Amino acid sequence: PPSTAPTLRLAADVNGLARAAALIGAGRLVALPTETVYGLGADATDPEAVAAIYAAKGRPRFNPLIAHVTGLEAALAQGVFDAAALRLAERFWPGPLTLVLPAAPTGTVCDLARAGLDSVALRVPAHAVALGLLDRIGRPVAAPSANRSGRVSPTSADHVLADLDGRIDAVLDGGECPVGVESSVVACLGGPPRLLRPGGVTRAALAEVLGSDPEDAGDPGSRPAGPGLLASHYAPRAGVRLEAERIEPGEAVLTFGTFRPDGLERAAAVESLSERGDPAEAAARLFGALRRLDASGALTIAVVPVPEAGLGEAINDRLRRAAAPR
Ligand code: TXA
Ligand code: MG
Repeated sequence: PPSTAPTLRLAADVNGLARAAALIGAGRLVALPTETVYGLGADATDPEAVAAIYAAKGRPRFNPLIAHVTGLEAALAQGVFDAAALRLAERFWPGPLTLVLPAAPTGTVCDLARAGLDSVALRVPAHAVALGLLDRIGRPVAAPSANRSGRVSPTSADHVLADLDGRIDAVLDGGECPVGVESSVVACLGGPPRLLRPGGVTRAALAEVLGSDPEDAGDPGSRPAGPGLLASHYAPRAGVRLEAERIEPGEAVLTFGTFRPDGLERAAAVESLSERGDPAEAAARLFGALRRLDASGALTIAVVPVPEAGLGEAINDRLRRAAAPR
């Protein structure tokens, strides 16, 4: 069961890293910063530690976790790379790309972390604190986003504590996450590479390396291509209304660029994703802005249209899930 002691906030210095590594080595839960979002880390080879992740998040056990490793060499021991996977890893690691691969016979990521599948999700984070921790632990670290299951992902240590204080042992405070949306998840399982989740590496960047657009996850309306890709996710307490061009009195509003919806002056709260219309800046601000708007107490968050270009695809994916029926 989740621990009840208050959660330690550790500075991301030598002492904090040593303490965090010792905790994870002892089977405990430590949230850690990555370039995308904070992850809730545990030893991926230890089924009891991994079970504690599912319990602390309230995450269904059919939804597998990403194993974080120090580099390609460590990843080669865990997954079977085809030519496309190798090209993607060489181009985008360390970075916001997760590869879903056939689990290697030499793999040590436990069954529960893989939710019993014969595939494994691997990522090398581009964050000095995360890499420093992985290096000290010397084993793969399972880390889903460090939020309660179904809720908005955390991009600061405060966000982590707001969801998980008292349910995890510690959080390593590495400041704000620079990318702000989760990794792109690409499956290389024999056929053509499939994009299971848009994220920090844009579709265009993936296509450039692959020589063609990755296949999409599946037909809309068919069963989710990724076990974790349930429609409702990233949900604030408030309802979310997309493509808003007119604001109802009392709504909270998320704007992008210079577009000003009618009735904006009646809004209960306003957050701008990026005044200059930069999708990378908007991604970095997305989850924090959603949390702040939620804290305004408004019943609805109205979101103006966000263009699909670049990281806009990942932003719109998260917003659609936040707006999905619960
Ligand atoms: O940026 C990120 O990816 C962050 C940071 C902490 O690394 N982590 C993250 O983890 O977003 P999580 O658990 O929230 O999302 C992992 C996604 C889920 O949609 C899960 O279903 C999918 O990856 N996934 C993991 N293993 C899989 C597998 N074997 N097959 C298909 N999908 C898998
Ligand atoms: Mg998540």
